[in-house]
Amino acid sequence: MAWITKPSGTMQIDRRDTPYLTDEIKDAFEKRYAHRYPNRQAMALPILHEIQHHYNWLPYQALEEAAEFLGLEASKLLDTATFYEEFFLQPRGKHTIWVCQSVSCEVMNEAKITETVSEKLGIQPGETTDDDKFTFMKVECIGACGGAPCMLVDETLHENLTPNNVGDVLDKL
Ligand code: FES
Repeated sequence: MAWITKPSGTMQIDRRDTPYLTDEIKDAFEKRYAHRYPNRQAMALPILHEIQHHYNWLPYQALEEAAEFLGLEASKLLDTATFYEEFFLQPRGKHTIWVCQSVSCEVMNEAKITETVSEKLGIQPGETTDDDKFTFMKVECIGACGGAPCMLVDETLHENLTPNNVGDVLDKL
């Protein structure tokens, strides 16, 4: 695995006047999670999921606000968010297509599925369509090896894919 470094010291952060974590959202986090965890910092992952679910991605300003809420340095929360591939630090499409590329799917011809999705959407893995409808991602094992090759469309699992039925799944969206 290669480490990719970016010059984040000069990065421009888009900011808006309205906070992403309103008092109402923070109250909801408090009620939903505070009693389940030993301290605020331990709430980091569910809070990241909540923010992404709400906004469909993790804006940097929202990460800063969440870090303050959790009593963490923003850099630590950013480290956490960048560690997991399911967190998006850029806006993504309305639907996210996750094609599994791990070994069971690979031997069951995942390459053909990837090629079909790419052709159908006109984008490569890691890209979003111009109309912001689809983001296409490759992921490691999603725990459905018995149904390889498989993919997730948002949170719905599709197994035993072929170039034909993957096209049908995309057409229905
Ligand atoms: S290898 Fe694809 S689901 Fe496990």
